[in-house]
Amino acid sequence: MRKVPFGESLRIIAQGSMNWRAGRPIVVSFEVTDSCTCYCRHCDHGGPRDMSKDMKPADYKRYMEVLRPVVVQVSGGEPLLRDDLEDVVKNIKSSSGLPYLILVSNWSEMTVDRYKRLRDVGVDEFCVSLDFPDAQRHDDFRGLPGHFDHLGKVIPAAAKLGFDDIVMNNCITAWNIGDINANASKAEEWGVNINFSAYSPWRTACRADFHETPETLVRRWGDVPRRGVAREYFPDRREQLELLDRELARLKERMNSSHWITTNNTTLDATREYFHRGGTPNCKAGLRWLVVTSDGALQPCSMQFKRYGLHEQEKMVKEFTERNTCDQCYVSIRSYLDKSYTQLLTENVAEFFSFKSKAA
Ligand SMILES: C[S@@+](CC[C@H](N)C(=O)[O-])C[C@H]1O[C@@H](n2cnc3c(N)ncnc32)[C@H](O)[C@@H]1O
Ligand code: SF4
Ligand code: SF4
Repeated sequence: MRKVPFGESLRIIAQGSMNWRAGRPIVVSFEVTDSCTCYCRHCDHGGPRDMSKDMKPADYKRYMEVLRPVVVQVSGGEPLLRDDLEDVVKNIKSSSGLPYLILVSNWSEMTVDRYKRLRDVGVDEFCVSLDFPDAQRHDDFRGLPGHFDHLGKVIPAAAKLGFDDIVMNNCITAWNIGDINANASKAEEWGVNINFSAYSPWRTACRADFHETPETLVRRWGDVPRRGVAREYFPDRREQLELLDRELARLKERMNSSHWITTNNTTLDATREYFHRGGTPNCKAGLRWLVVTSDGALQPCSMQFKRYGLHEQEKMVKEFTERNTCDQCYVSIRSYLDKSYTQLLTENVAEFFSFKSKAA
């Protein structure tokens, strides 16, 4: 990964410490549109949506002035569907270089020229979804024929420019547990990094309040209502967990001698525990990070549809975060920001803010 210049690193740490003490978010995830080019099995955002109410580029400056996060994710839906994405990025980035800006995207609309333009206006890191190491399963899972072949061309071409700022994101699901290491190898072959995150059933199984008494997480993987295909792949939970453990153990061995797998050991252990326990308690959504929806509402996370105004973060923390008992995801943001600040600084800053260089 790209080594962040020392001055920028210090600014990130200083501003991050201030936010931590003031109860302001460290990370804000802007969902810049709900529209998408894919129809993924694990997601509730698939397909085209009305984009007329999406916030305008200048609105993002206003949100940044109030929320002042150190790290911003520009996500969606599919952010590259916005023709004015470069203007959105310009309005988020300040002259100091902050925030550290991550574009989370499926890259179906990416070209090498657009990659260069987005870098020029301030994207620090490109996070690109990868679910399977082959065209048939990746395209089937994402509901977009030809997508994997497109990635196989544009990613190595962008990587060859040598900026080392592309990270594949492999969301571990019941469908791809056995492909964790093969996905890592695909990223290596394409000349980019890879990060691992965990599937949450909440996106597709339940959009409302969390009343149900959950069975184990893996059992519910078999009940994803939209497509309902997991059961035949993994009929036995114990088998799934054993396979997960084998894949993660192998990944850890490779992490010791590799530079391109960016998930760290403790995050991987916590992700494994999330799957085994069927949840992870003590979520800080709304406090340490939050989501801004495409039409400008603050939400604690992308799976809790409790909407607040721009100036209502404190209210959200009181009403939601302080009473939150939801443990039903372990997305990347959580895996970093649930930690204590000391732990975040000493252990995770290097990975999360990409301080690790290829030489490290
Ligand atoms: C919602 S997408 C938005 C950005 C872009 N469209 C993409 O797919 O990368 C952001 C990330 O969320 C992941 N995701 C989707 N559904 C999920 C779920 N149910 N649990 C955990 N992560 C999920 C995707 O795989 C992707 O890496
Ligand atoms: S995961 Fe991303 S690409 Fe897939 S449907 Fe959701 S928003 Fe679209
Ligand atoms: S655990 Fe936290 S971030 Fe995950 S769905 Fe629940 S409230 Fe949202």
